Amino acid sequence: MQILNSRDIDDHGLLRKLTLDIIHPAHSKSALIRQVTALRQLIERRSALPGPDGLDLGAMQTRLDAGLAISPIKAALCARECFRTIAFIRGLDSAISDARRPGRPVRVLYAGCGPFATLALPLMSVLSPQEALFTLIDIHEESLFHARQLIDGFGFSSHVDGYICTDATRYRIPVDETPDVIISETMNASLRSEPQVAIARHLMTQAPGALMVPAKVSVNACLLHLAKEYAAPVSDSCGPAEREPDRIYLGTVFELSTQRIRDWAAVEESVLPAARIRIPASFASKYRPMLLTRIDVYGGNRLLDHESSLNLPQPFPGKPVFRGGETLQFRYRLGSRPGLEFEYAQPD
Ligand SMILES: C[S@@+](CC[C@H](N)C(=O)[O-])C[C@H]1O[C@@H](n2cnc3c(N)ncnc32)[C@H](O)[C@@H]1O
Repeated sequence: MQILNSRDIDDHGLLRKLTLDIIHPAHSKSALIRQVTALRQLIERRSALPGPDGLDLGAMQTRLDAGLAISPIKAALCARECFRTIAFIRGLDSAISDARRPGRPVRVLYAGCGPFATLALPLMSVLSPQEALFTLIDIHEESLFHARQLIDGFGFSSHVDGYICTDATRYRIPVDETPDVIISETMNASLRSEPQVAIARHLMTQAPGALMVPAKVSVNACLLHLAKEYAAPVSDSCGPAEREPDRIYLGTVFELSTQRIRDWAAVEESVLPAARIRIPASFASKYRPMLLTRIDVYGGNRLLDHESSLNLPQPFPGKPVFRGGETLQFRYRLGSRPGLEFEYAQPD
């Protein structure tokens, strides 16, 4: 039984109130900026992790065989991406709710929890350990140390059954601990650089019945008029500005979902299949080929273009210039520098 002092009790009440607001189905993401900012400030105030000022944000990052694991201080900054944080907390809450079963808690495996366990900690204030039990994984010992300090400080020790310092792409799930929900936000726009794909594939293959959060990430190709795209300033990372994009859609080139992971079961190579697209025979010179990332977090919670750094348009790999009429065969490269690549192909 943990004993909390009066400040802890006040903070616990504040965390619970903010979380209830954030997961309330009637609230839109844009109506929750104040609450998610207050949540982030509460977590930062209670954490002993140093702030980012004057520090080298790249220091302490780790280049793994499956991609880049960002440093604890950079991982902490993810909490400042308001729409991302709202959509993931709501999505995880919804997945836990769908995974509920009588007689035992929902087992949640959180791969890449960072120093704040930002996506799970708030839910610990509204769910009992009999309702949801979390296993936290991170490659960085320092992240797990700070996550544990926060969780214990709020009185949530019994919500967590393990803090595991390991590479999630090598973690063997114990047979009697099969998770009901697997959550990971270890990604970058267009699924480049960080190991989201490898982590999801490795863990979901071991627990095919688990609900995956995010449920689907799709990368779509388009020709985009950049001046129109950025006509209105993006003021901060707390939501998109109004804009009227001018785009020519070319199709989805790659998707990460439970269905795709099943499709890749027989793939042993270090690349995953992706789609073939055709550049229109002619298009105005104002358009640039770009990749757009859409994230279906879970249960109708989505992150669309420009809503977070994960959804910012990215140039095609190699920043090619097309004359028109080219056919491109995409594929997804696994390994320490994962990402999409393409080669020119004969038209079908
Ligand atoms: C983008 S941060 C997200 C932090 C936090 N989950 C959030 O959403 O605010 C990704 C985290 O995943 C961890 N990570 C990345 N790749 C990993 C891997 N292969 N195994 C374990 N942890 C990993 C990083 O160390 C970092 O803490």
